[in-house]
Amino acid sequence: MKKQFTVSIIGCGSRGCDAYGQLMYKEKEHFRILSLCDTDREHLTRYGAIFGVEDGLLFDSEEAFFAEKRSDVLVIATQDRDHVRMCRRALELGYEILLEKPISPLKEELDELLAAYREHPHNVVVCHVLRYAPAFRKVKELLQSGAIGRLVMIDALEQVAYWHQAHSFVRGNWRNEGETSPMIMQKCCHDLDLLQYYADSAAETVYSAGGLTFFTPENKPEGAASRCKDCPYPESCPYSAEQIYLKRWKERGCPADAWPYNVIAAAPLTEEKLRRAYECGPYGRCVFACDNDVVDHQSVDIVFQNGVQATLVMTAFTANGGRKYTFHGTTGEIRLDEDADTVSVLPFGRQAQEYKISELIEEASSFGHGGGDYGLIRAFYEVLTGSAQADTALERSVESHLIALAAEQSRKSGRVVALHEDDRKEKRS
Ligand SMILES: NC(=O)c1ccc[n+]([C@@H]2O[C@H](COP(=O)([O-])OP(=O)(O)OC[C@H]3O[C@@H](n4cnc5c(N)ncnc54)[C@H](O)[C@@H]3O)[C@@H](O)[C@H]2O)c1
Repeated sequence: MKKQFTVSIIGCGSRGCDAYGQLMYKEKEHFRILSLCDTDREHLTRYGAIFGVEDGLLFDSEEAFFAEKRSDVLVIATQDRDHVRMCRRALELGYEILLEKPISPLKEELDELLAAYREHPHNVVVCHVLRYAPAFRKVKELLQSGAIGRLVMIDALEQVAYWHQAHSFVRGNWRNEGETSPMIMQKCCHDLDLLQYYADSAAETVYSAGGLTFFTPENKPEGAASRCKDCPYPESCPYSAEQIYLKRWKERGCPADAWPYNVIAAAPLTEEKLRRAYECGPYGRCVFACDNDVVDHQSVDIVFQNGVQATLVMTAFTANGGRKYTFHGTTGEIRLDEDADTVSVLPFGRQAQEYKISELIEEASSFGHGGGDYGLIRAFYEVLTGSAQADTALERSVESHLIALAAEQSRKSGRVVALHEDDRKEKRS
């Protein structure tokens, strides 16, 4: 018989319950959700009812929840600045942990968590979900099989999409670096993780440039209002909250529960609830009159210790979301294009081969991040049973965060930043 692990979730929002909770709930023979903790009572009650959690095991305070160990596993999906504090406590209590990314935007906290992990060595699997998505895994397999010879360069484009930038990084949760993380960490720690996974090496140097050029008060059009509901440009402004939330929601057939609408109003969604959020809440603010300070475009150049080079470009100014990666090898190219739904292999002088991303994803796993969310949950189970190692274990995942921190340091200083210098000095001496 398969072992079933009991689960607690702290942070019952979009990631904790909508993504992982729902998937674990479906995987009943592997997981049983026993306990939930969230400071928002509405979230607690809603998911408590969905997952059938006893009232006595619903906690609205972190202190009460962490008073004792509640289950085998803990999913930590609160906001960025809460992760390390909660993960440290969970390690002390002996949980096996699924930890949302970013681990932390602070180097001191990364060190602190690694120290706690060495003292209490339980599984900590970081939610770098794209490593578990079939299309990104396919590329790794192709590289490992020598399909393009020796990898020399990676050219990566992260298309944020104009409306997603406005939703998350101008009006929403990740608009302010001081409250959460720099955008290169928040939006691109997946990309930085993937780049080091494909390069198969630690980074040696990082250079980055970029900034916030558009979503600032100076760019507010003449006569524009501070809230979209009062603005004379609701039709012509692509960033208008009316267009992003009400018009797009209707175009999508008025779903009762869909991201990003369920971030601004609680499901089941109605036009009235969305209109209220748009008229009164933070998501109805003009994009040129918010308290945002994170970048709207940034590039990062990385030279890895094995000589592979990578350039990552992240930009708000794209019509659609999704990643476009090109891998340049000595005997061919691989192109991954989420928008076009393709992974193409172009061996020099030979017939090209194309895979449809949607066909690589199994029907049952077509849930979130191109099947990555489900892939992660399945892989996490294998880690818990001891039948596999975690691809995104804590120690491995810290590397992408160090690259992100180096990129921010470089962007702000204009200088190239060297990583792991101390390790190299140690090896030389
Ligand atoms: N892996 C990915 O691809 C991915 C994608 C998006 C977000 N994230 C990360 O996931 C995390 C959660 O993001 P989200 O979109 O689910 O946010 P969310 O706001 O939907 O959920 C966070 C939940 O935590 C609760 N909370 C806040 N403080 C708490 C506390 N002290 N104790 C208990 N609960 C508390 C909130 O009430 C909320 O329900 C963030 O760190 C974010 O950066 C990861």
